[in-house]
Parts: sequence; structure tokens; C-alpha cells
Amino acid sequence: MVIASAPGKVTLFGEHAVVYGEPAIVMAINKRAYVEVNLRNDSKIRVIAPDIVIKGVVLTFDQNIFSVESEVASARSELSYIVKAIELIAKNYGVFKGADIRVWSEMPVGAGLGTSAAITIATIKAYSEATGLDLDKKSIAVLGWQTEREVQGTASPMDTSIATYGGIIQVQPLNNDINIERLKVPMKLPIIIGYVSREYKTKDMVAKVRLLKEKYGNIINPIISAIGQVSRKARISLESGDLKEVGELMNINHGLLEALGVSTKQLNDMVYAARKAGAIGAKLTGAGGGGCIIALTLEKHESVSLAIKSVGAQTLESDISEKGVLIE
Ligand code: PMV
Repeated sequence: MVIASAPGKVTLFGEHAVVYGEPAIVMAINKRAYVEVNLRNDSKIRVIAPDIVIKGVVLTFDQNIFSVESEVASARSELSYIVKAIELIAKNYGVFKGADIRVWSEMPVGAGLGTSAAITIATIKAYSEATGLDLDKKSIAVLGWQTEREVQGTASPMDTSIATYGGIIQVQPLNNDINIERLKVPMKLPIIIGYVSREYKTKDMVAKVRLLKEKYGNIINPIISAIGQVSRKARISLESGDLKEVGELMNINHGLLEALGVSTKQLNDMVYAARKAGAIGAKLTGAGGGGCIIALTLEKHESVSLAIKSVGAQTLESDISEKGVLIE
């Protein structure tokens, strides 16, 4: 039996622009997804994810045929990351063995905290370890990115890279490769996550930006480049410990994301409530269309948290996780 875990994340800077090759800065949080792999004697893959999908859902993957042993159709899309990751390991490395796979997560699913990437990366780690394949971190991150692209259509390497490496990293896609650089931030970032249920999937929000970019290229392209500039500048502010500047750049980043049409009234309400209560910066994080915001606080931690709750959202206390994917 092998259990692997990988962290969720918040995007500090650069979501959406990273899809078009700009750098993003992302931080792993101390909430993890877990994947347990037990090899079987046959060639079936059975996936059980009682906390994440619906209790008792079982999928089987046999001789390249994937079937859902359940009447719940939605389970198929939720678990397709696991099945795709295993398919790609079989395809890229010629390794395939039947296994019982159990998945659970400490994060709310679909809120934009990178749960699907954490599950993908933990699956690759646990399954490759169980089958005797020794993959280094870079190969895991690249395989994870390929999995997300095949499941979602479009995906940047951001979520799968942070789930692999942990800490705070700058991620930039380079054709089929990824440039990943670890940031040295001299202090803890006091961040509060606010979240509301998400109305749209990441895929829909990415498609929305793509359409806007196609229709108004001259307007949208400079916004995307400006987000890239915000990320580059934010890296310098983070590494020099200038939190006031980090907060200002978060506010600019939120305005640019709003211009891309990915914020919502609820996200804006949380952002403005947090700033009014003393946050030094606040922005939506992730794909938008509902989901999460992050607020950076210096000393008004409690009042910012209450302000976010007062507009009908929930908050999540979370700290940085230096640990990326690992075997438990
Ligand atoms: O929904 P999330 O938290 O996985 O964020 C998606 C981030 C995007 O930049 C919008 C898409 C991507 O693939 O990077």
C-alpha cells in the first residue's frame, strides 16, 4: 500500500495571464489531498472517493476501457483526472497494473484551491511509486500538466507545479516545458482565504477570457501583459519583504482580472470588505466566477476575517506549506 499527498494552493499573482505564457506566483497551503494505491492481481483500476464525490462511487479501467460502476454521471468528470493520469503513465512509461485507489481531501472541492491538481499529482506519485517507477519532481510536474490539459482542454502548469514542489514558486509555461523558480520570501504571508460557492468551472472562465481576447485583442493583450508585469514586480517585492507593495500589487491584479471579466459581485464584495477592514491588499484568486479571494493582513487579521464573513462568505485559515508531493 502506498499513500501520497500533495498540497492545495492559492495564486498570489498571475492567474489567467499564465495561460498565455506570462509568469504566475503561487503558494502551497497546508491543506492536502491524499491518494492511496493498493495494487491488485487483475488489471482493473477501482477508484473510491467517498469524501469528494458521492459515497460508494466506483470506476473501473480495464484494457483501456473506462467504466463507471455507478449511476452518478457527475462522478465521471470529477475522477477523470485520476484515470487520465494513469492512462498517461501507461502510455508514456509502458507501466500498467491494476489497483484500488482511495482519494480524500482536506479542501473544499471546486473552490479554486487546486484540489484537482493536488489529486492528480498525488495519484501520479502514489501510482508510480507502487508500480516501481521512479519519477523525479520535474517529470511528475510535466505529467500532471499533461493530465490537466487532456482533461480540461486548456490548462497552465501552475496548479500541478505547486502541488509538486510546495513553497512559493514562480511558474512560467515554455512551449511544452515549464520554468519553475522557488522564491525566497523572508517572512510568513498573513493571508486569509474567503470563499463562496463557485458558479462556473475553471474551463468556462478560461474560455470566457479566450473569447474576449479574440474579440478585443488590442485591448485584452495589454491587460494580459500588464498582469505579467505585476507578477514580475511582485516577485521582487515578496523577496525583499515589502508587504505593503505586495498588497498594492494584489489590488492592481484584482482590477486587471475584473477587466478580464472573471470577477463577480460576491468576489468584489469580499475584496472590498477585506480592504475596508484593514487588509493591505485583496484580490480574487484562481479562475474566478465565484470561488476564492485572498486578503493580505498585517495586524487586523480578526477584523478582516469578520468582514469577509459579514458579506456571506466563509473563511479558511491557512498557512504556507513548504512540502510538495510526498509519500506519507
Ligand atoms: O480554478 P483554479 O484555481 O485552478 O485556477 C485556474 C487558474 C487559471 O489561470 C485561470 C487557469 C490555469 O490553467 O492556469
